[in-house]
Amino acid sequence: MEHLYLSLLLLFVSSVTLSLFFLFYKHRSHYAGPNLPPGSIGLPFVGESLDFLSTGWKGHPERFIFDRIARYSSHVFKTSLLGEPAAIFCGAAGNKFLFSNENKLVVAWWPNSVNKVFPSSTQTSSKEEAKKMRKMLPNFLKPEALQRYIGIMDDIARRHFAMGWEGKDEVTVFPLAKRYTFWLAARLFLSVEDPSHVARFADPFHLLASGIISIPIDLPGTPFNRAIKASNFIRKELRVIIKQRKVDLAEGKASSTQDILSHMLLATDEDGKHMTELDIADKILGLLIGGHDTASAACTFVVKYLAELPEIYEQVYEEQMEIAKSKAPGELLNWDDIQKMKYSWNVACEVMRLAPPLQGGFREVINDFIFNGFSIPKGWKIYWSANSTHKSAEYFPEPEKFDPTRFEGAGPAPYTFVPFGGGPRMCPGKEYARLEILVFMHNLVKRFRWEKLLPDEKIVVDPMPMPAKGLPVRLYAHKA
Ligand code: HEM
Repeated sequence: MEHLYLSLLLLFVSSVTLSLFFLFYKHRSHYAGPNLPPGSIGLPFVGESLDFLSTGWKGHPERFIFDRIARYSSHVFKTSLLGEPAAIFCGAAGNKFLFSNENKLVVAWWPNSVNKVFPSSTQTSSKEEAKKMRKMLPNFLKPEALQRYIGIMDDIARRHFAMGWEGKDEVTVFPLAKRYTFWLAARLFLSVEDPSHVARFADPFHLLASGIISIPIDLPGTPFNRAIKASNFIRKELRVIIKQRKVDLAEGKASSTQDILSHMLLATDEDGKHMTELDIADKILGLLIGGHDTASAACTFVVKYLAELPEIYEQVYEEQMEIAKSKAPGELLNWDDIQKMKYSWNVACEVMRLAPPLQGGFREVINDFIFNGFSIPKGWKIYWSANSTHKSAEYFPEPEKFDPTRFEGAGPAPYTFVPFGGGPRMCPGKEYARLEILVFMHNLVKRFRWEKLLPDEKIVVDPMPMPAKGLPVRLYAHKA
């Protein structure tokens, strides 16, 4: 009997050793080619992921980048992230190279966890998925459509401020900003308007958004597991809405242009085929995720910086009050008003320079190439980082200083200000985001001044930047 235990133990130890050896060997074999960029690849599987994530948790994601630029004296370095061999490209030249070589040398890439939460994206390659999405979006996000949305955005913003802010001495900004952008998205993507219907989606949606880019361990209680459950729930709710819309469109009770859902239901691909209900539900979910936490992070940081910088607040206030005073009572904002919000938009841009809602993006290398003299092998992942230019004194002198005048005149040099990315995959929701942020700023400064309740509140980046306690502020309503 003892013999048996001993043999089993030996078998176990040797298989663990073998597996570790295999993992280690496999890990190193990715980096065997000649002339690779300098850098460290860390341990098998984990690589440098923890370093990468923890600089964000501590509120300084740029440190991961700038420490390595200094250590290796290079604007491209190798690393290992999320179990993948990777290179990080820094600076304007790196951004330009990646954004100009989309679909030639690189394609978009998402971590595995994303594909698991969106099953329809695993049936086809994510490249095809993104193409489908890109075909749909222009109709929905084209300027004529957006112009129509400004009044609706303003109407919802007024109702949002009446419900969540007015009559209160203190509020916590981040959850309110999320409620605002979610309400807008529910209305403009799906024509869901009733706040209680919106609320049914909101909670599971937040679980989904926070779990989607997490360690993909699908066990009860993990963020990833909660994200999958939440996505199933939302998908079910979406399918009810989709089915009803099909009926309404057939009976002429819904219009073909009223929101993105109608566009998706009626759009066909090159072979004349319609998208499936599951596909549409996933696409809408993708849009809600892409467009919701990003914009609410931007709105939250506008509130933070305006609290800290009274002289900037004053100039935004002046600009917005001039517009407010030019309106008849009850008249909603329109396209001309938005064009007058130049200073406010420069402020929002400076906010997104210092606190980019998305820190960067991944690409996959589809053909070997040389960049800055280094070989980048096919199959590697590449990460571009907004902070590598936004926080660099080379492009933005005194990078920590809040200075909206950087955006006056010709503005920053090409490929240096990239909160929305660039090239063919530049954020298709950029204009939509501009409108929702400006409508938010208008409604906010028109009603209040405010001060931060926690002057030294920490910032956490996980993966979006947010104040650790949600940015509680004391409100001072303007006298009527
Ligand atoms: C302040 C708000 C926003 C910021 C900072 C932002 C940022 C970005 C960035 C940086 C990318 C490109 C990622 C890459 O290159 O890998 C992106 C892609 C995307 N964004 Fe946005 N976004 C915002 C709002 C929105 C909104 C409101 C929508 C929808 C209405 C949206 C929908 C999308 C979609 C669908 C993609 C993927 C495009 C593709 O893969 O081709 N975003 N966004």
